[in-house]
Amino acid sequence: MEPIISTQDLKKIYRVGKVDVPALRGVDLTVQEGEFLAVVGPSGCGKSTLLHILGGLANPTSGRVLVDGNDFATMNEDDRTRFRRHKIGFVFQRFNLLPTLTARDNVAIAQHIQGNGFNPHRFESVVELLGLEEKLKHKPYALSGGEQQRVAIARAVICEPKILLADEPTGSLDSENSQAVLNMMRTLNRTFRQTILLITHNQEAAAVADRIVRMRDGRIISD
Ligand SMILES: Nc1ncnc2c1ncn2[C@@H]1O[C@H](COP(=O)(O)OP(=O)(O)OP(=O)(O)O)[C@@H](O)[C@H]1O
Ligand SMILES: [Mg+2]
Repeated sequence: MEPIISTQDLKKIYRVGKVDVPALRGVDLTVQEGEFLAVVGPSGCGKSTLLHILGGLANPTSGRVLVDGNDFATMNEDDRTRFRRHKIGFVFQRFNLLPTLTARDNVAIAQHIQGNGFNPHRFESVVELLGLEEKLKHKPYALSGGEQQRVAIARAVICEPKILLADEPTGSLDSENSQAVLNMMRTLNRTFRQTILLITHNQEAAAVADRIVRMRDGRIISD
């Protein structure tokens, strides 16, 4: 079967003034559809850089990335934006909800932006899975951190993205809320066969995944 993600000798060098900062030094990674993969490693080892490139938010300096059969290098900016909207869901450490909208609208707006209109069946199943039924009328200030992150996850998966990319989604949560969010990601993976790539510092977080990729100094050191 064709992998959903594959990279070949992926390198990223940031240039800061006259100094080159190598963030990725040759990453070969293959992910199959339906996998729940955790990427772990010390601060600065290149995890977020890798995730941004896989999501089409940044360009590699060299190497190849194929996501669901698409090569970003051959796409223009419009194609890439469309691709991201339809195929990728992002979750970050900061929840980035729109403060003036209710939980319901924060989730539903993603369907409108994507352009396929509101899908009530999908909405209900995602809201139920993330345990948000009672919180839909709340605005972000009236939600706990864990609830806000669950809304952010609902927003990220509502349009049935091929891949969910999560960068330290439990990074600002206490251990109880972290565990709840991780359990829900696992259920998402099982229920919808959602492909998930989870970046984390946290060994417990990594334990909910099926596969753990360890990075160090811009390279994968074990898989
Ligand atoms: N925009 C940038 N400009 C210059 N250097 C950068 C930039 N973004 C990241 N870096 C550098 O690239 C390296 C990898 O950074 P990255 O953010 O990918 O690490 P990380 O593994 O996600 O770390 P953390 O766990 O702290 O989030 C680091 O040395 C970092 O300082
Ligand atoms: Mg990071």
